[in-house]
Amino acid sequence: MTTSHAVSRGATVPASAQLFARACAVTPGGVNSPVRAFGAVGGTPRFMVSGSGPYLLDADGHEYVDLVCSWGPLLLGHAHPEVVQAVQRAVAAGTSFGTPTRSEVELAEEIVARTPVQQVRLVSSGTEATMSAIRLARGFTRRDTVVKFAGCYHGHVDSLLAAAGSGVVTFGLPGTPGVPAAATAATLVLPYNDVAAVQTAFAEHGDRIACVITEAAAANMGVIAPVDDFNRFLADICAAHGALMISDEVMTGFRVSASGYHGIDGAGWRPDLITFGKVMGGGFPAAAFGGRADVMAHLAPEGPVYQAGTLSGNPVATTAGLATLRLADAEVYAHLDAASAQVQQLVGDALREAGVPHVIQSAGNLFSVFFVEDDRSTEVRDFVASQRQAQHRFRAFFHAMLEHGVYLPPSAFEAWFVSAAHDQVALDRIAAALPPAAGAAAAAAPDPEGTG
Ligand SMILES: Cc1ncc(COP(=O)(O)O)c(C=O)c1O
Repeated sequence: MTTSHAVSRGATVPASAQLFARACAVTPGGVNSPVRAFGAVGGTPRFMVSGSGPYLLDADGHEYVDLVCSWGPLLLGHAHPEVVQAVQRAVAAGTSFGTPTRSEVELAEEIVARTPVQQVRLVSSGTEATMSAIRLARGFTRRDTVVKFAGCYHGHVDSLLAAAGSGVVTFGLPGTPGVPAAATAATLVLPYNDVAAVQTAFAEHGDRIACVITEAAAANMGVIAPVDDFNRFLADICAAHGALMISDEVMTGFRVSASGYHGIDGAGWRPDLITFGKVMGGGFPAAAFGGRADVMAHLAPEGPVYQAGTLSGNPVATTAGLATLRLADAEVYAHLDAASAQVQQLVGDALREAGVPHVIQSAGNLFSVFFVEDDRSTEVRDFVASQRQAQHRFRAFFHAMLEHGVYLPPSAFEAWFVSAAHDQVALDRIAAALPPAAGAAAAAAPDPEGTG
């Protein structure tokens, strides 16, 4: 859909392509976070100039219904007027003081009131939150080994950028050049949702395990909810062995319910530490980790485990986060759940109608579409299963949706996000884009190299 606000009227090369060429000259891959480069889907990333409610406007004047929502933070949609006003007031009062401020206390109080954490420390990114939570767990337990699950992403923390070794319980191998083997040598990478693998890991290494870190619901290998009470099982086995359970709610926190995924599967138990990010920053860089008061007491300056940040608890970011959370009431969550269910239904109908094999999975209002290889596929429970996708179909689907004015995550392995601003008009636009996109997915030819 083209609006009348074309930014680069008359240009022969689209403005996004021009900007991308300039970006590639001065930035590796032209982007500041890899998935934005469209590497998995091909083509030119769209450079956005503004957002309003459920819509994004790109530099060529194309408007899209946004199903990425900045990868999660924009629970209320783009440029919510009350958030914008609060931020404008905060900016005018000064952007950073390097001292404690009222808004960081109020944001911490809001987080403590909504979730099972007793104390919280604010940081600037989800990566910092998980990195700091792991340091704290190691400092508290005086142990080194960290258990993580294949396909769970916790930011680009060295020790967590580990790929699984060949055995079920083997220490991790660096998942990227630049991470020394020593950084992952104390990381055990296990299959997600695999109770037996966790039991074996604790039987073999229990007295060395500082913590188990897991996404509260996996949403970085497509959306895979924990099955068989997996999270509670992790909390129990950690407690039995003197380890800590870290639940990573950076993606799910304050999105899938007022408290996060713990609000869905947390009756009767709680993690020792929880990490937060995304929604709690209201579109600004703010994140946090928190948990049991006796564990948090080990953090500097109260305790010996060092952690700090020049812009931690920044007054503009905390104001945006606080305004967002205060607006995120029961009505907002009911709307998100309904909008998510409607989009899932529409996508499922269109793909079925076009004969495209697929599985749609959700964890609360987070969901993703697995373009599975054939109709025999059922539930996707782990990383190995999530990799078996007909990516050529996703690529065709993605580009057809883009062409018809819907901006999806540019990867088959990402969650889709709705916001409270996704009203019926926006959902109708998605509905109109789906049949041609499903048709394109059905007609897509597999890659010659056989990569799906
Ligand atoms: C579950 C999870 N944890 C941590 C992170 C890292 O957050 P950030 O990108 O803010 O560093 C992400 C990012 O997507 C995430 O999904």
